[in-house]
Parts: sequence; structure tokens; C-alpha cells
Amino acid sequence: MKLCVIGTGYVGLVGASVFSDWGNTVVGVDIDAKKIERIKAGDMPIYEPGLSELVLKNIKEKRLSFTTSLKEGIADAEVVFICVGTPQDDTGAADLSAVWQVAEEIGRNLNGYKVIVTKSTVPIGTNERVKEIIKETSNGKVTFDVASNPEFLREGSSVEDMMKTDRTVMGSDSPKALEILKELYTHLNSPIVACDLRSAEIIKYASNAFLATKISFINEIALLCDRAGADVSVVAEGMGYDKRIGKAFLKAGIGYGGSCFPKDVAALFRTSTDQAYDFRLLRGVMEVNEKQKYHFVKKITEKLGKNLNGKVIACLGLAFKDNTDDIRESVALEVIKLLRGLGAQLRVFDPQATENAKGVLGDLDIYYAKDGYDAATGADALCILTEWGEFRELEAKKLKKVMRGDIVFDGRNIMNRDQLEVAGFTYFSVGRPAYAVRQSNGHKSLKNRVTGALLNFSK
Ligand SMILES: NC(=O)c1ccc[n+]([C@@H]2O[C@H](COP(=O)([O-])OP(=O)(O)OC[C@H]3O[C@@H](n4cnc5c(N)ncnc54)[C@H](O)[C@@H]3O)[C@@H](O)[C@H]2O)c1
Repeated sequence: MKLCVIGTGYVGLVGASVFSDWGNTVVGVDIDAKKIERIKAGDMPIYEPGLSELVLKNIKEKRLSFTTSLKEGIADAEVVFICVGTPQDDTGAADLSAVWQVAEEIGRNLNGYKVIVTKSTVPIGTNERVKEIIKETSNGKVTFDVASNPEFLREGSSVEDMMKTDRTVMGSDSPKALEILKELYTHLNSPIVACDLRSAEIIKYASNAFLATKISFINEIALLCDRAGADVSVVAEGMGYDKRIGKAFLKAGIGYGGSCFPKDVAALFRTSTDQAYDFRLLRGVMEVNEKQKYHFVKKITEKLGKNLNGKVIACLGLAFKDNTDDIRESVALEVIKLLRGLGAQLRVFDPQATENAKGVLGDLDIYYAKDGYDAATGADALCILTEWGEFRELEAKKLKKVMRGDIVFDGRNIMNRDQLEVAGFTYFSVGRPAYAVRQSNGHKSLKNRVTGALLNFSK
């Protein structure tokens, strides 16, 4: 099949490379000329495991090419995917200006029947408007269909997620468009949900909002655990074995971030308001998430003092999650800004996101370290802000040696508590009791019993 993918960001670039790897001929289009030049030169503008190899392989085999010209990109395409960004605007709604712009340009350059597919996350009614815009700008001369095909990939494992998706959702009022999309996805073994446009649009938002709800739920349980001296990791483990609940997205921490959850939850809430419905549960999910970082910073100031002048704090993690260089809506950066605002000197490290973070945080009171130990050197406290697997591998004894202080604040509950405590650290996490609390609560034997299970569960 001949395809065009408009917008070569996290979704579009991964989508274009995976579609081409399935044997389709794909043209990727972006207005960002620098990005297109970089991709053509084999220099990926984003970090995603396996992406570079896939793009280079398919460029070499002449199934994948890139251009800044939408006209050229869609000329031969049977299916055109819109994968441009839909960030949050000032009102909480999705900013659809890039979608409208692309729809207009598609309309102006439509040269034959095509299925126009929105992969960007867009609110109810967007695809109907896309259809109108294309009709208006193409003067009704050429036939086309519109479909919604929301994307569910996760940054950090996006190539694998697209290749082995749990399900494919496709919405359209055209049986022909749905047949063409089914053919494109024919070799995937997962279920296909074919439906109307509006249901497809809601499925994407409802899925992300549900996952965000799970995170805020376990974060509330963590706050309760903090007060009650219980251990949220064990609580989550006990809950997660129940197949109706599942263990995914039940990890307490400093809150969700990223380019999707915050804006999608806000957009669904806004859509509900537009439909005269007060989605109270979502209001709670957003409030809990917003407060989570403040609870964490409060824990730090309770131990180090409200005025952090003269304190050196090492922060591990800048990306919004592990295995990505994406810092959009990263809670790690929010925490760092709060600590800096309180006077702390920061020593920060991230395996992939440092360059992106420099653009946001600048150089004031921040040293960008070359690894975890470098960040920890001379620090009074160490904070874990992103759940990178390699932070778990840091040796407690070595950390203790290079640090000035002996406190670890684990905002992602990933570190080996026992090893840190044995090495002489005081360890605080989210919803897991500190050593003194465990002792006074009679949890003496908990340490050994829980550690193995915990380590398994946190993987
Ligand atoms: N990132 C994710 O994990 C993820 C997962 C599922 C769905 N989504 C959704 O997919 C959409 C894209 O997200 P992303 O993370 O890939 O965004 P992104 O910002 O990484 O990429 C968007 C790309 O679109 C390009 N663009 C903007 N206007 C354009 C235009 N007029 N013509 C051509 N290109 C244009 C930008 O230059 C950019 O390269 C969003 O709606 C997002 O919510 C994202």
C-alpha cells in the first residue's frame, strides 16, 4: 500500500517506519525542515529504542522517504495519516490548529480518492470537522473518506508497541475506508475494534484517562500508607495479582507527566464540560496528580529544612519516564524547579534527556552530571525522579562514599531500600514507611519478606 504520514514526531516517525517495515511504501512529511534533514541523514531527532535501525533499514530498501512538501507526500498515497501534535491550550482543550492546517492543505492538494486518517489524539467531532474542511478546500471535485485510528503506543517502547499492539481501533462512517484500514493492519493478531468516528475518538481519551486514574488512585493509597505506616508497594502487589485489576499503572510516585496523560485528561474533562457534563472523577484525578509533587518536596523540606540555601541535591532523572528523551510535562523538571526555587544547588543526570532539559532549566544553580555517581558527588541528598532501570544498579556503598549527606528520596519507589539502609542511608519513598516507622510498627520481619517480592514487582 502507498501511504503518507504527516508529522514525523514520536507517533509519526515510529508509525512511518513500522508501516514501511510491513512492506508499504511510505512518505513522511513534516513542516520542520531541520527535522526532515536530520532524519534523511540518519540522525534521529528523538530517542526510541530500535527506531534508528528501523528507519535506516527502510530508507535503504527504498520503502521509506521524507519530505517537507505535503503536496509531494500525498500525491501517490492511498492512505494519509495525520500525526501532528495536539497540545493543551490555555483553556485545557486540545489545540487543534495543526490538524486544521493539515486538513486544509490536504484538501487543496487532493488529486484522487484517499482515506484521510487521524492518528493524532483529537476530541469528539474533530474528524467530522476534518471532513468538512477537506470538502471545502478541495471544492468537492475529488472523493475521499475520513477515519479515526488513534494510537496507543508508549514512548520508550513505541516501536515494539506498534508492531504488537493490543488492539487496533478504527472509526469511520465509510465501510470502504474501514476495509482499507483492515487490510493495512491485516497481519496483526490482535483484535480490531471497528466503529463510528466519535466512539473511536472517545476510546483514546477514555483509555488514557483510565490509566491516569489508576496512577492517581495508587498515589492516594500511598498517601494513606504514609500516614498509616503501611507499604504501598505491597498493597499494589496484593491488588495487582487480581486479574480484574492488574499490576500495570499501580506504581506510586511523584505523579504522571508526559505529552499525553496531562493534556488528554484535561481535554476529556473539557470535552465533558462542553457536553454539559461535570466529570467529577477526572477533576479528582487531576488534583491528586498536581499535588503529588508537592507532597514529595514537602518530605524533602521536612528533612533538609524549608530554606534549601547551601544544600546540594542530586536529582536522577529528567525525562517524564524511562527510556525516552521526552521532557514534555515532566514531573522531574517540576520538582527540580521547586527545589531550585527553595535555594538548592542541583546536580542532575538523565541517560537521554539532558540536552532537552538544558533548554528548559538553563544553567542557573544546575550542574549537568555525566552519570549517577557524578551527580551524587558532594550532595546532601539524592532524589530519584524518573524510573530509569540503570538507577537501580547504582551501588549504595559507592553512592555513600561520594555523597556529603546520607538521605535518599525515591520519588519512583525503584531503589533497593535494604541495600541503601545497610549502607547507612536514611531512605524515604512514596507510601513506603521509613525504617524507624517500620521498627515502631512491628514490621521488623517485613524487610526480608517483602524485598524479593518488591523487586520482582517493581520490574
Ligand atoms: N507521544 C506519544 O506517546 C503519543 C502516543 C499516542 C498518541 N499521541 C498523539 O499523537 C499526536 C502526535 O504526538 P507526538 O508525540 O508524535 O507529537 P510530536 O510533537 O513529537 O510530533 C508532531 C510533529 O508534527 C509536526 N507538524 C506540526 N504541524 C505540522 C504541519 N502543519 N505539517 C506537517 N507536520 C507538522 C511537528 O513538526 C512535529 O514533528 C498527538 O495528538 C499525541 O497526543 C502521542
